[in-house]
Amino acid sequence: MYYSDEIIDQVRDATDIVSVIGQSVRLKKAGRRYVGLCPFHNEKTPSFSVDPERQMYYCFGCHKGGNVFTYLQEHDNMTFPEAVQTLADRAGIKLPEKQYRPGEKKARDEKMQLLDLNKVAATWFFMQLQKPAGREGLDYLRKRELTDATIRSFGLGFAPADSTSLLSYLKSRGYSDELIRKSGLMNVDEMRGRMYDRFRGRVIFPILDVQNRVIGFGGRVMTDARPKYLNSPESVIFDKSRNLYGYNVARRTHAGKLILCEGYMDVIAMHQAGFTYAVASLGTALTRQHCEIIRRFTKDVILSYDSDQAGTNAKMRAIPMLRRVGITPVILHLEPHKDPDEFIKAEGKEAFQDRLDKAENAFLFETGIIQRNFRMDDPDEAADFFDAVALLIASIDDVFKRKGYMKMAAGQYGIDERDLSDRVVKKLEAGQMDERYAAAMGTAGYRRNSYAGSQGAGRSGGYGSRSQGRPDVSQRGGGASYAGGAGRGAGQEISGGSAETGQAGLAADEADEASLQAYLGQEQYDPEEGYPGPVSGDDYSGYYEEPRTDFYEDPATGDLYQIPKTVTRRGKEGSVSEQGIEMSRRLLLSYIARYPSIFDDVKRYVRVDGYGNGLAGDVAKIIYSQMEETGRVDEAAAVTRFEDPEQQANVTEIFHTMDMAAGDAERVKAIREIVRKVYEASPFPEDDKRSEMMKTIERKKKLEEIRRMQVHLS
Ligand code: UTP
Ligand code: MN
Repeated sequence: MYYSDEIIDQVRDATDIVSVIGQSVRLKKAGRRYVGLCPFHNEKTPSFSVDPERQMYYCFGCHKGGNVFTYLQEHDNMTFPEAVQTLADRAGIKLPEKQYRPGEKKARDEKMQLLDLNKVAATWFFMQLQKPAGREGLDYLRKRELTDATIRSFGLGFAPADSTSLLSYLKSRGYSDELIRKSGLMNVDEMRGRMYDRFRGRVIFPILDVQNRVIGFGGRVMTDARPKYLNSPESVIFDKSRNLYGYNVARRTHAGKLILCEGYMDVIAMHQAGFTYAVASLGTALTRQHCEIIRRFTKDVILSYDSDQAGTNAKMRAIPMLRRVGITPVILHLEPHKDPDEFIKAEGKEAFQDRLDKAENAFLFETGIIQRNFRMDDPDEAADFFDAVALLIASIDDVFKRKGYMKMAAGQYGIDERDLSDRVVKKLEAGQMDERYAAAMGTAGYRRNSYAGSQGAGRSGGYGSRSQGRPDVSQRGGGASYAGGAGRGAGQEISGGSAETGQAGLAADEADEASLQAYLGQEQYDPEEGYPGPVSGDDYSGYYEEPRTDFYEDPATGDLYQIPKTVTRRGKEGSVSEQGIEMSRRLLLSYIARYPSIFDDVKRYVRVDGYGNGLAGDVAKIIYSQMEETGRVDEAAAVTRFEDPEQQANVTEIFHTMDMAAGDAERVKAIREIVRKVYEASPFPEDDKRSEMMKTIERKKKLEEIRRMQVHLS
């Protein structure tokens, strides 16, 4: 059941958001807003605000937010139509029969069709493995000591070497060219307008989501050719930042824990050996969404990345990310072997279990790695090391844990616990934090996000080398987005050629080998960063106590805003990162919502298509049309134009973010600055046929104008 925007807005207008939320949250009036303890995360001081005028709620701690529909979806687990229905009933509004939001049904249908196509393709790949032509693939998998049962349960398959057999098959099954193209299973030769199979001469790993739907594929060469693994690109059904290989099975085991590893061969090997609670990220680095999905399932995580330098770096990065959601992982050591697959092959499952039992405490692992940067027989270096340990302890978010770690470190390194404690207190007072932790905290670390104090071993240097890496380039940016609910599901077996494919995972993002190379200047997959794919959402939601972002009250309106977050992220030196630009765009939209009077001036420099392809771009379309039609922004209505509660939270966040300004003059300056940034980042329209030189001149002129731009605050 779908409803028109008009009816949705009507229902929303007829509803008092305070009384709806007030049923589940004790709200206290504060000015013209209401505040309370956030129902979405654990906190002791209220950072959850409900605004009856703006008709939105927002938590400055965990950044959940939206309008009254979002709330019912998120808090009461309703679907969107259910939320509309409930509130319509409440308000006595009769809903019309069956209506579709334009585009929505089509998008949904397309998702279903793509999932269907993927399932058909997975089955086809699986069947190829049984054919004479697929012998090669079967032999390869057997050589890697996979049993037939394992091959079946993971639905592994084979893609023949020729270039159109899958294409022909899919066409024979009646799929349209358009859909086939969108599936990511084909390479498209734009010049000749032709498609051919993306996966050729590879063994195939179907990737299943938690509901056992085939969302993508990975394919491994059977030789030393490059790239070793090729993967489906991200698509409407394939989001690498929210899926874990093997999770569909791991989740329904009763182990209640997870082993987190790098590769899907590792997952398969562990499952085959009986460790069915192993999962891997999909060729990309671990994301915040992954951490949050994991946290909802368990706090018991064993980190089992590769033994090499890259794996060590990845562990060092993952620990603070996991800690951020309240998970303290333990570290599995596989030396002298490279990864779980090789370990099990060489030593067997009992030895593996033994290693699991001996997994190392994360804190001692970290200090051990950090220590490699210091010569402990040199008193100055030793002191620097203890300083780094103090900084690490100061980064940990709980006073009792800090105390425990001080004791642990004092014991381990033979230093006086009180000396260490004094140093930790200093770090805390100075708001200093280990840079990895600051990066993992993103927004939440705002209060403590000071980068004073040099730290060795930035990510460029890597741990273990003595190079004094610079801390990450820190920059503004990063909108929040909240990880979606990990559904439920159970693994199942593929049998013969039946429609169901067994469990599977894998995926990386070779988003396009060429663009990838251009992006980082590295063609190899980097276990720490993964392939540089679309960084879909560096997000945040709090599970630990008190993760409050600083926020302030706009003296003119009483609205609450958070300060744009500082996100530490690597960017090409000197260049403004994509995240930074996206943040500027969002900020500009927030300004327009707050000061509609600036719209006409802003529009002269930043057209509606000047906001990029990210969330800001989508929100801009809505806001610009609202402004054109009504001269004001209806924030809560804009929120509803997004289907997904996570996106709704992100949009809500946009409207709650603004630079702090001491007065109007400062704000005017800030607005000009933001307009300039966004203008600079937006390309000339494609139909602009002027010469490059003319464009450069024009740009200069416009930038000069922006410097003097009229800004009417009202
Ligand atoms: P590894 O190179 O560690 O591979 O990459 P592996 O899992 O040990 O694989 P085998 O044992 O050689 O077959 C770890 C993961 O990184 C992604 C894949 O998801 C892989 O499982 N990856 C790696 C890619 O996506 N592309 C690559 O070219 C390499
Ligand atoms: Mn391996």
